[in-house]
Amino acid sequence: MSIDKIVSLCKRRGFIFQSSDIYGGFKAVYDYGPLGIALKNNISQIWWKAMTQIHENIVGLDSAILMHPKIWEASGHVGAFNDPLVDCRQCKARFRADELTLDKQPNLDEMNCPKCGTKGSLTEPRQFNLMFKTHIGPVQDDSSIAYLRPETAQGIYVNYLLVQNAMRLKLPFGIAQVGKAFRNEIVARNFIFRTREFEQMEMQYFVKPGNDDRSLEEWKKERLAFYSELGIDTSNLRFKEHGDGELAHYAKEAWDIEYNFPFGWSEIEGIHNRTDFDLKQHQEFSGKKMEYFDPQNNERFLPYIIETSAGLNRMMLAVLSDAYWEDTDNDRIVMKLDPKIAPVMAVVCPLVKKDGLPEIGRKVMDILKPEFKVVYDQQGSIGKRYYRQDEAGTPFGITIDHQSKEDQSVTLRHRDTQQQDRIEIDNLIGVIKNKLENFS
Ligand code: GAP
Repeated sequence: MSIDKIVSLCKRRGFIFQSSDIYGGFKAVYDYGPLGIALKNNISQIWWKAMTQIHENIVGLDSAILMHPKIWEASGHVGAFNDPLVDCRQCKARFRADELTLDKQPNLDEMNCPKCGTKGSLTEPRQFNLMFKTHIGPVQDDSSIAYLRPETAQGIYVNYLLVQNAMRLKLPFGIAQVGKAFRNEIVARNFIFRTREFEQMEMQYFVKPGNDDRSLEEWKKERLAFYSELGIDTSNLRFKEHGDGELAHYAKEAWDIEYNFPFGWSEIEGIHNRTDFDLKQHQEFSGKKMEYFDPQNNERFLPYIIETSAGLNRMMLAVLSDAYWEDTDNDRIVMKLDPKIAPVMAVVCPLVKKDGLPEIGRKVMDILKPEFKVVYDQQGSIGKRYYRQDEAGTPFGITIDHQSKEDQSVTLRHRDTQQQDRIEIDNLIGVIKNKLENFS
């Protein structure tokens, strides 16, 4: 299946739009439409609950995007957050050197430009920093430089002692955060997979040094299991360990959870042992002690950090890719989204626009609205209405027909099987809740 089919459905049904569409688009930036924001929020809330509600020792934080520029010197992002970049002198196309598989074909003079095909037109790789720079205040000089954060993690590190003191936390404990991150990606492609503005869901788990290896193993297991909660087929997931040459400057050990996207296996989440690298750096650059005090053993030390770092947009793309189903028998496209994360739970459709059926439809809406996100649709044939909602991933269709007037019952249609049950209006909430609990 090609990613283009998902891109097209996302536009058609109001999940995701190219940014600044009327100006011809803005590369590698996307806007989330009514269904997209609902789906993204649902995924993010499930992650938030899995972290801060299920784990008593994990708390939340929302740190600012703009931070003191020294933070990015300490973290290593000013010096080391670079991609090697290669240009084509002929067609001016730009590539990431690692994507040109230079390891296999090290001689650039011998290579053809992947875009225009010209031999020997590629420049030597040069380092390109991925952070977006801006200026704070009216004067634009070196003293006013600020960066848009390229990861949410640093906001957690610089606040960790404030959080720990305020919440009286003892090791091990975690701090979770969902927020925007920005990277000036050179090669941005594959829809929302690699964009310049995106959202991360990161959790930093602070442990006593020596307990880090075990903690990393536990978090690997837990994070992989999480994807079943979103309804993702686990056979489409795998781990990939970072080799020596791939490890980020802060990591002692790192694993990616990869998803089998339409364009191949690619990372959706990283699980990293960052040791005490970041806290040590902040201690040195800020001049402030970053040590944790262990009252039981009366000792002070820098904790080690196990990081779970997921991209919300990539997770959403994995969910969309997994849910996409061409039901060729019935000539329809269905987004088989798990009802837990579906943007809309049910569509309410009076069979005709007369005979008192719309009035019953409105009554059903009023009953369901406080419990679920429901939409009302009386436009077009009932088949077309259902198929529109199948593409939107709406699990249930509720139809009001002439029998509804007689016995206050409706039909409940199931998105995936198209099977219909007759249900009394008074029982609708209970039946839908029951189906949600038993959905597989
Ligand atoms: N704090 C560690 C960190 O940021 P990372 O592997 O660079 O690690 C973590 O990023 C996750 O953020 C990735 O697994 C991915 O899901 C997401 N991510 C990174 N760059 C992205 C981009 N340009 N567009 C969309 N998501 C991105």
